Amino acid sequence: MSKKNELIQSVKGTRDLLPADTPLWQRVEDEARKVFEAYNYREIRTPVLEQTALFARSVGSDTDIVTKEMYTFDDRDSGSLTLRPEATASVVRAYIEHSLYNEPGIQKLYYFGPMFRRERPQKGRYRQFYQIGAEVLGGDHPAIDAEVLEMLALLLERLGLKEFKLLVNSVGCSKCRPEYLKVLRKSLDEVKSRLCEDCQRRSNTNPLRVLDCKIEADQPIIEGLPKIIDHLCPECRQHFDAVTMELKQRGVEFEVVPRLVRGLDYYTRTTFEITSGLLGAQNAVLGGGRYDGLSEMLGGPPAPGIGFAIGQDRLVLTVEAASSLKPAQPLAAYIAWMGEATREAATMLARELRRERIGTEISYHPIKLRKAMGAASKLQVRYAIIIGEQEVESGNYQVKDMGTGEQQSVSAGEIAGFLKEKLREPAPAASPVAGQQ
Ligand code: HAM
Repeated sequence: MSKKNELIQSVKGTRDLLPADTPLWQRVEDEARKVFEAYNYREIRTPVLEQTALFARSVGSDTDIVTKEMYTFDDRDSGSLTLRPEATASVVRAYIEHSLYNEPGIQKLYYFGPMFRRERPQKGRYRQFYQIGAEVLGGDHPAIDAEVLEMLALLLERLGLKEFKLLVNSVGCSKCRPEYLKVLRKSLDEVKSRLCEDCQRRSNTNPLRVLDCKIEADQPIIEGLPKIIDHLCPECRQHFDAVTMELKQRGVEFEVVPRLVRGLDYYTRTTFEITSGLLGAQNAVLGGGRYDGLSEMLGGPPAPGIGFAIGQDRLVLTVEAASSLKPAQPLAAYIAWMGEATREAATMLARELRRERIGTEISYHPIKLRKAMGAASKLQVRYAIIIGEQEVESGNYQVKDMGTGEQQSVSAGEIAGFLKEKLREPAPAASPVAGQQ
């Protein structure tokens, strides 16, 4: 319990995104929306709270996420609930619950939102983090996989990211994976005593996860283990070859990484990650893959699916590091009024400009001219509008171009039109960039 008057801080692993941070977040979201919509994806919003069983059944009851990382609690009357650690399970649940499979064609859905995992916080790893994700449900054609990856490459290109790598693999299907697991278990039996403690445990519970181990000393041993890509059934092999062929056709660069198995159990066939050299240890900007049996696992009809989730926190870090996006556009206008008698005219002008979508700030107190100009330049507005008693009387206000210093008198009724016209022209080089909001 915190003592009275003691500062209450944010919860470990969560963060406040302050006004200085959010423009970049918004720009990433805007760009994602534009790219997704060009590929005919539509937005879906699912709840943050779900029944715990949803994740146990889909992500897998032996995975790190479900065994160690979920925020789970018993609700008074709804049983065990969990703050979603990811959204694929929720999207598939919603797809089944609302019979979206009855709609014509495949469903292409995207989402933005917070996810929760109780991991050890570090740079790029948080307990509340944000994902930008997309799911395609109702088709298993390899062209869908290739199209998803092409779309991701386009989004990263649009965000100006260059230093990223697309890693792909196939983890087989319910037919060939059990066969591979037998072979893997057999090989693990021979080497497991030389592996780290976690891997010894995983060898028994979830042997695929051994391939994902990051412990340096284990690497040469793991490299020698049999690879799933060499044990695919003919159908999975054909699917994977078709995906890689299509990627080449579409000019999407990739690398096949046979050890890429991902940390969630629902995956089948194609799996992928994009990593960035601009990030530190947590270098996966996004991950995803195919999950052909998931709908049935959740009580739905057969509906093959594929999707991905971008870690938005990490994407923003890479975009910042690549510093590819222009700074946010500051406000267009600042209204300075001098003397109580001018308050109403100034307030009405602010109201009008804002209704015209011209970004405007106004002083709350009457202000001296010098101070007003100081405030206007701090805000980096392109125009300051000065309203004194004389201006109210004449109905003509002073409009000052903060870049050039030029000042002119404009009739009150024409200011909105005047500013709109001017804001269409680029700001003079020496002045700060400003514009319509
Ligand atoms: P995931 O690999 O668990 O996949 O997460 C996707 C991305 O979310 C990661 O690559 C990473 O960028 C970000 N991420 C994960 N955990 C954290 C964390 N603690 N802090 C910051 N960022 C994090 C999924 O969630 C799947 N649902 C992806 C998917 C969609 N597969 C098919 N459809």
